[in-house]
Amino acid sequence: MNVVALPAVKGDYNLTNYDETYKHFDWKDVEKEFTWSETGKVNLAYEAIDRHAEGFRKNKVALYYSDDSRDEKYTFKDLKELTNKAGNVLKEYGGVEKGDRVFIFMPRSPELYFALLGAVKLGAVVGPLFEAFMEGAVRDRLEDSEAKVLVTTPALLDRVPVDKLPALKTIFLVGRDIKEDEKQIDFLKHLADASKQLELEWVDRMDGLILHYTSGSTGKPKGVLHVHNAMIQHYQTAKWVLDLKEEDVYWCTADPGWVTGTSYGIFAPWLTGTSNVIVGGRFKPEDWYKTIEKFGVTVWYSAPTAFRMLMGAGDEIIKKHDLTSLRHVLSVGEPLNPEVIRWGKKVFGQRIHDTWWMTETGAHLICNYPSMNIKPGSMGKPIPGVEAAIVDDQGNVLPPNRMGNLAIKKGWPSMMQTIWNNEPKYQSYFFPNGWYVSGDSAYMDEDGYFWFQGRVDDVIMTSGERVGPFEVESKLIEHPAVAEAGVIGKPDPVRGEIIKAFVALMDGYEESDELKEEIRQFVKNGLAAHSAPREIEFRDKLPKTRSGKIMRRVLKAWELDLPAGDLSTMED
Ligand code: WTA
Repeated sequence: MNVVALPAVKGDYNLTNYDETYKHFDWKDVEKEFTWSETGKVNLAYEAIDRHAEGFRKNKVALYYSDDSRDEKYTFKDLKELTNKAGNVLKEYGGVEKGDRVFIFMPRSPELYFALLGAVKLGAVVGPLFEAFMEGAVRDRLEDSEAKVLVTTPALLDRVPVDKLPALKTIFLVGRDIKEDEKQIDFLKHLADASKQLELEWVDRMDGLILHYTSGSTGKPKGVLHVHNAMIQHYQTAKWVLDLKEEDVYWCTADPGWVTGTSYGIFAPWLTGTSNVIVGGRFKPEDWYKTIEKFGVTVWYSAPTAFRMLMGAGDEIIKKHDLTSLRHVLSVGEPLNPEVIRWGKKVFGQRIHDTWWMTETGAHLICNYPSMNIKPGSMGKPIPGVEAAIVDDQGNVLPPNRMGNLAIKKGWPSMMQTIWNNEPKYQSYFFPNGWYVSGDSAYMDEDGYFWFQGRVDDVIMTSGERVGPFEVESKLIEHPAVAEAGVIGKPDPVRGEIIKAFVALMDGYEESDELKEEIRQFVKNGLAAHSAPREIEFRDKLPKTRSGKIMRRVLKAWELDLPAGDLSTMED
């Protein structure tokens, strides 16, 4: 594209001229922001870390880390050395090579980030897992991805069914007093001794970078594969949407087990050379405000469920903290209630900017960027380079104000490249005419703003976590008392939705509160706390189609006192 023809929009990172930028923008123009546009050598970790360590940001703080027991900071130079060391340890003791899957299952700590980026430097495909996962969830993901290496902690090791994972060759343990054997390696010991020099593995732009497992309405969680090319969009949206500037201190509250915690907790801030705050431990409103005050956070990215919890904690705590450093606040994961936007304006003096995207899309697609007028309740507009529309079930584009499938024209740089081991599943996301179908229903108003209406499928969004009903149902029926189970999302003012399970018991079991609690614990211990149903209701029978599928739509109608719709496929 001819740059000379675009003086008005080049570098228009505030999108002050959205319409013009939208018309002329070409993702190709972003490529020149990366060293590989000149050298031809691609590796996201090089662009995110080493490039800065070799330039004027060398002594700039890249990472502020804090939790109950640690308080540390690392410059870009430190990060370069530590990720090199981590890469050397993974290579030397785990034999990690390009394309190998390296999974990371541990609570947030600086070492998690060293290991993750060290693995990326080797050209491996990383797979971050929430520390809350229990054995079943860990096993499904390591099995499907055939992970060769796992980095975890001694405390989490008993949730890793090592004997059942033939592909898993090496486990790095992050902790003290590690007993080593041919399979278990002391990560910290070797990290301390490792060389600071690492030969980076150069990859193709379309080579695998990261696998994020996410839930759909059927089947086990699917492995969404992203590639190094996604950095183009991470970088550009860090500028346009996060609005990151040289002097910013940025805090994304998400865990790397969720795509927000990698795309916007690691890649976007570091690709732009931003000082990044990472906080470990659990959510406590008081601590969150302390974090903003302590580090002087200027740009803050969180989720509606967190904002609602902060709102619930009351405005008195806020008055005890100096939050005046904040200049830009963003949200993702669920619909952002207008009420929360009004509260944010009142207590932080900031409009909260909603952003819409998905694990599968890898980066922001529809957003509220700083220079635009926000319509509270709307997700915003497609960023330049992204074509969004509402389409009907045949893929025809609908006019404004008509509800339908929220769809994106294929071809944005951070789009997933496959579903691991399941190409047909990947293909099923697209209409033949090139629209990616999100599974969300929405409409677009006459000004081009998009309004979220709900999920088309049965996926549950609880506290910002995406939970597939099928996975929970499958776990429920493993319990000896459970004959059948149907799981739905029930609207909840704080969590967005909570998980509600309808359960039919096996003969010989009596309904009781103890049994409900036992079943709840069973799911919690088998999957994860956030997957356990908060409500369980016993029913003699569940509504099913003639082919035996549980009709979640009918369960939902019962729950919400709504008409159940077409029941022609229901058995008796
Ligand atoms: C929902 C999150 C309304 C939506 C990065 C989407 C939202 C799913 C918003 C993806 C938003 C995400 N407004 N709904 N701003 N952002 N969602 O894969 O249903 O965990 O399809 O990725 O979350 O969830 P995921």
